[in-house]
Amino acid sequence: MEVIKVEGGYPLEGEVTVEGAKNSALKLMAATILAPGVTTLTNVPNISDVHVMGKVLKYLGAKVTVKGVHELEIDTSTIDKWETPYHLVAKMRASTAVLGPLLARFGKAIVAMPGGCNIGARKIDMHILGLEALGVSFKVDHGNIHATTPKGLSGTTVTLDFASVGATENLMMASVRAKGVTTIDNAAREPEIVDLANLLNEMGAKVRGAGSPVIEIEGVDELHPTTHRVVGDRIEAGTFIAMAGLCGRPVTVKGFNPRHLGLVLKKYEMMGLTIDRAMDECTVSRTGAIHAVDIQTLPFPGFPTDMQAQTMALLALSDGSCIITENVFENRFMLASELQRMGADIRIEGHHAIVHGVAGFSGAEVKSPDLRGGAALVMAGLVADGTTTVSDIYHIDRGYEGFVEKLSAMGAHVSRVEVPDQDVL
Ligand code: EPZ
Repeated sequence: MEVIKVEGGYPLEGEVTVEGAKNSALKLMAATILAPGVTTLTNVPNISDVHVMGKVLKYLGAKVTVKGVHELEIDTSTIDKWETPYHLVAKMRASTAVLGPLLARFGKAIVAMPGGCNIGARKIDMHILGLEALGVSFKVDHGNIHATTPKGLSGTTVTLDFASVGATENLMMASVRAKGVTTIDNAAREPEIVDLANLLNEMGAKVRGAGSPVIEIEGVDELHPTTHRVVGDRIEAGTFIAMAGLCGRPVTVKGFNPRHLGLVLKKYEMMGLTIDRAMDECTVSRTGAIHAVDIQTLPFPGFPTDMQAQTMALLALSDGSCIITENVFENRFMLASELQRMGADIRIEGHHAIVHGVAGFSGAEVKSPDLRGGAALVMAGLVADGTTTVSDIYHIDRGYEGFVEKLSAMGAHVSRVEVPDQDVL
């Protein structure tokens, strides 16, 4: 199996440019279903989740052509199926993002119920409730969701119990072809939602208010293909910013909008990092100690749950104690037990992690619990005493393109190594 080996004591320095956002690109790809013809997406990250979404679209009958390293040409005029198979949905929960577009275009869809994942149950009850309000009928059988629209899709007001990113996206994509106006109240406000709304409007949709808690969509009769550049990945950027803050030397992170990480950068400055912001980059460094600061994850513009693991790795080496509260997912503290193997002092109590800063990490064999936890373990290895070996790195490959290459280019001693599969007891 492949692992990532990190030699501690080689701090990052220099600059890195992040790719397009994973959590936008996947939904933009699904949205191409709405506009029969050839849509071109640029700044698409070359990551395994994008490859899986490409397989989903091909399974439906679309043609997906890689035009350049970060450019996809997607022809959805040939789509002749509206069912996504379990083996693809099980691989990547975001495959459920085709539900809204398939309903809008065909009036029906069969999507495998997404299984849970390491970080939580990942239900889609809010997606279903909201779509039912638009006139969708659901039947779940043999693990598949069978959705139909007996009387078509009709606009209405949907108020979400929680500002769910996925539910907001599916409702936006279903309602662009509904009769009348749909209002999504308590909508997610993430920059990736705005990026999707921009694509839909470029396709001829009428979406207003994306980025605010109330999004209004006026249904239209048809949408046309377009060309769109994926917004920069604020979480990939935040990951490198956290790494730079941990190592201390100046690092410039390019290719994203620092305003998309507002609270993260503010908290990091409170923790003792120096952050100089520019239009689409920022430069990070640290000279003094890392200060302990309480963190609680919330939907945007709150502190993003996708930055929780990386921030835990920073706070684990702070000069005090603090509490991290995870409000978005029910099981997203698995990193803690791996960091403890490296010497961290973290106690989990429900959805709180009590973190007591320690002087340093010692290198160890650790396992990626999920995408962001895996990145955080590599991050901890950068400053650990000795060598850290991170396994289950397929999690990392889901969302970080050229992770090892980017770190090596900034001076880290990190490499991907093939090791014999350990005998699993
Ligand atoms: C998206 O997941 C992201 N994934 C996640 O990023 C991110 O952590 C999350 O939004 C929150 O920002 C993609 O965009 C592919 P939610 P999503 O719907 O849409 C519960 C990463 O590391 N919920 O906002 O699934 C749900 O279980 C990944 O890049 C319901 O209960 O997030 C979760 O606890 C991880 N019922 C919470 O709400 C529903 O119908 C937030 O989910 C929908 C969600």
